[in-house]
Amino acid sequence: MIKDGLIAKNIIKSFGDPPIDIIKDISLEIEIGEFVALIGKSGSGKSTLLYIVSGLDNPTSGTVSLGGYDLSATDEKMIHKLRNENIGFVFQFHYLLPELTAIENITMPARKQNQLKQVSEYANHLLNEFSLTHCTHKMPSQMSGGEQQRVAIARALIQKPKFIFADEPTGNLDTANGDKVIEIFKKINREEGTTIIFVTHDMDYANAAKKRVHLQDGKIFKID
Ligand SMILES: Nc1ncnc2c1ncn2[C@@H]1O[C@H](COP(=O)(O)OP(=O)(O)OP(=O)(O)O)[C@@H](O)[C@H]1O
Ligand SMILES: [Mg+2]
Repeated sequence: MIKDGLIAKNIIKSFGDPPIDIIKDISLEIEIGEFVALIGKSGSGKSTLLYIVSGLDNPTSGTVSLGGYDLSATDEKMIHKLRNENIGFVFQFHYLLPELTAIENITMPARKQNQLKQVSEYANHLLNEFSLTHCTHKMPSQMSGGEQQRVAIARALIQKPKFIFADEPTGNLDTANGDKVIEIFKKINREEGTTIIFVTHDMDYANAAKKRVHLQDGKIFKID
């Protein structure tokens, strides 16, 4: 089903009245299997760009094609399906459901599609992988921030998505937990070929990626 990576062409995003361009004619191609860090100063447009290329927000103009689907020309239902099956999102604040346990949160995306049986084993594998077995039946309020974040990442991975989009996934974590998250990203990129695009302020983490896209004032000024 997924044919291509990400192709963004001439993306402009403006906000406000009168409108101000926040993303200024950005074109970007990311192939399947790439591991990319999006970096730049606060306010340079990283989150805005990430939301647009992942289909969570629309550009003011320009086109985004993800996995072979032109996001502006594909109907809502199809985009929903694409998102559910092929895209994992990780945010700085995790948004776990407070009334569900870790294992229930992780299997949530699959349960929505009646695939609980198929994913249970993988969910337990992820819990083990992320050193979370002691949290399996705990509620988010009974876990540390780092544990909650790792649960949220496990939830993003449960459907083995082709793409992971992450906005400062290590932002709220201490070094040990931040390192763990980046190690997990490296591993799924290497072993599952998952395409990963993540925003970070941390140069060490950015250097763990295979490619860095530097944003400055709504434009790409360097890719290295
Ligand atoms: N909904 C909005 N309405 C108006 N302006 C916005 C909106 N969202 C973002 N902006 C502006 O767009 C610019 C880029 O914001 P964005 O959140 O993309 O920055 P960022 O690079 O992610 O910054 P940070 O590192 O602080 O998260 C900022 O100047 C911000 O104030
Ligand atoms: Mg941001």
